[in-house]
Amino acid sequence: MRQHRIAAIPGDGIGQEVIAAGLEVLEVLAKRDGGFSLSVESFDWGSDYYKKHGVMMPADGRERLQGFDAIYFGAVGAPDVPDHVTLWGLRLAICQSFDQYANVRPARILPGIESPLRHATAANLDWVIVRENSEGEYAGQGGRSHRGFPEEVATEVSIFTRAGVTRIMKFAFEMARSRPRKLLTVVTKSNAQRYGLVMWDDIAAEVALQYPDVTWDKMLVDAMTMRMVLKPETLDTIVATNLHADILSDLAAALVGSLGIAPTANLNPERQFPSMFEPIHGSAFDIMGKGIANPLGTFWTATLMLDHLGEKTASLRLMRAIERVTADPKLHTPDLGGKATTRAVTDAMIAILRGDNT
Ligand code: IPM
Ligand code: MG
Repeated sequence: MRQHRIAAIPGDGIGQEVIAAGLEVLEVLAKRDGGFSLSVESFDWGSDYYKKHGVMMPADGRERLQGFDAIYFGAVGAPDVPDHVTLWGLRLAICQSFDQYANVRPARILPGIESPLRHATAANLDWVIVRENSEGEYAGQGGRSHRGFPEEVATEVSIFTRAGVTRIMKFAFEMARSRPRKLLTVVTKSNAQRYGLVMWDDIAAEVALQYPDVTWDKMLVDAMTMRMVLKPETLDTIVATNLHADILSDLAAALVGSLGIAPTANLNPERQFPSMFEPIHGSAFDIMGKGIANPLGTFWTATLMLDHLGEKTASLRLMRAIERVTADPKLHTPDLGGKATTRAVTDAMIAILRGDNT
């Protein structure tokens, strides 16, 4: 029997609720499959931990995660702790120290979900956004001098390295090649940002030579927002810088019906370090504890984790179950305009998985 070691970090807010639901479903799925088991260890790191200990995770946190096959992460963010503290103290600390440089964000319209775009359907909106996840605008370079004085100055420097851009570009071309349409759109703002982003364009053209079977084009990020809305069918795989892809992926999540469904993988493709899997939605303190958080983003995230662990059959089975749940409006949580609870959606998933005899 294949055994996978999973570190669960539910974190803050609804992260607690959705990761609990995700682990329950994974447990049923593993039993149903029979070929693998998951050994899960949970870590109580996050904003409550910070309030007690002054840090988001212990000093040896990274070492403790190092031996796991994957990290299943809920969300961080609390109303009474500054966002940059929660973020840099846990989520970005993990992404950066485990060199999870490829962030993958699939976006497609699932059965039964209505897009705010009039003509969008499952057939013409099916994207994967590849986000550079280690440098760019999130490199953490910068500082503030003369604090509080009129002459105060702050810098926030974007870092683009040839190594960093080349590896994400290769990853994106590989992703495009693995999909039926073999179509990649490279997003920049290389008209205004003439150093780092012109280098992106140059490297895209160089890497493209190794992928003659992939059709690719370039878009400026502002025009890209219009193309996503007006011509969704012309896009398939999309690669962009850390910040640009952050923004485009929220737009994508809205266009496919709900941020509550959108999944993410933070990958270290070389598998030197564990990769981390999380729903995109965040801690959503406004609905915490009400039992109405949509767990589907966390379930979809689990399919990406299973793919990474090599459990393709289980991943497909889980995705099929998710699609059966979305197809039933009675199982829609409030973010999808319905009245279902986290519990009801989780129970429905479990019942479907138990009854799936394929
Ligand atoms: C995301 C989020 C984060 C990001 C926030 C919470 C800093 O928006 O995962 O897209 O920008 O990376
Ligand atoms: Mg975001």
